[in-house]
Amino acid sequence: MSHSNTWSDKTQVIDPTATDPKDRLMVALDGNADEARAWARELQGQAGWVKCGMTLFYQTGPEIAAEMKDLGYKVFIDLKIHDIPHQIEGAARSLGRLGIDLITIHALGGRPMMEAAMRGVAQGAQEAGVERPRVVAVTILTSMDAQTAHSIGLEGTAAQQVERLTRLTKEAGVDGIVCSAQEAPMAREILGPEAIIITPGVRPAGSEAGDQTRILTPAAAFASGASHLVVGRPITTAPDKKLAAYAIIEEIEASLSSVGI
Ligand code: C5P
Repeated sequence: MSHSNTWSDKTQVIDPTATDPKDRLMVALDGNADEARAWARELQGQAGWVKCGMTLFYQTGPEIAAEMKDLGYKVFIDLKIHDIPHQIEGAARSLGRLGIDLITIHALGGRPMMEAAMRGVAQGAQEAGVERPRVVAVTILTSMDAQTAHSIGLEGTAAQQVERLTRLTKEAGVDGIVCSAQEAPMAREILGPEAIIITPGVRPAGSEAGDQTRILTPAAAFASGASHLVVGRPITTAPDKKLAAYAIIEEIEASLSSVGI
């Protein structure tokens, strides 16, 4: 089997060391299409990124990507794709044509599937004449407890599973991973300084946790090795969303200088 890395072009659309703090913040647009569009308009120019998950994408289709690009966002399409390599290559090719910035895949699909995703985005982007989206892998869903993991045959502790899968993403040439802050130091060590490491469950100091059980502040996330933060409800349910985003960006700015990145 060929494992050539020809898709790993050097064009860094996403710079994990970007200095504009807005480009470290990914706002999760977890609502219906009308809500998501309204939030995105309200936050225009404030946050650098929007994250469109399955609920939104399956409602609107790919047109949401173009709408968000028109508003000036970097676009993260979070579909966590997982299928046979042939399907994933096709799915990634379709996503690669959209001119978006980031997609997610499941590391549990294995190395051939992840390599297929990398080939697919490169082909799609080339056909459409756009930059290829970066690809990040979800290792183990944080919703999966030990009992559930063992029931589907995953051996070892959660940390061991995540470590094994993180190494696999590196071998497959994937651009980074999504992980909790607990896993981020290990991931950064394995993946090196260029990798994209995205951490959800971030809450500004002194705010509500919601249903997130393992939350962290922006400062703690960057100190643990994250390059980008996903924040949803602390912004989207705030009475003044722009102000909420602004406060988080200020916190990001202070955190980045305190950890020296
Ligand atoms: O509203 P909140 O800030 O909790 O939203 C977090 C976002 O990050 C949601 O879109 C959620 O699906 C996503 N996410 C998460 N935990 C993970 C992976 C993704 O909360 N382990």
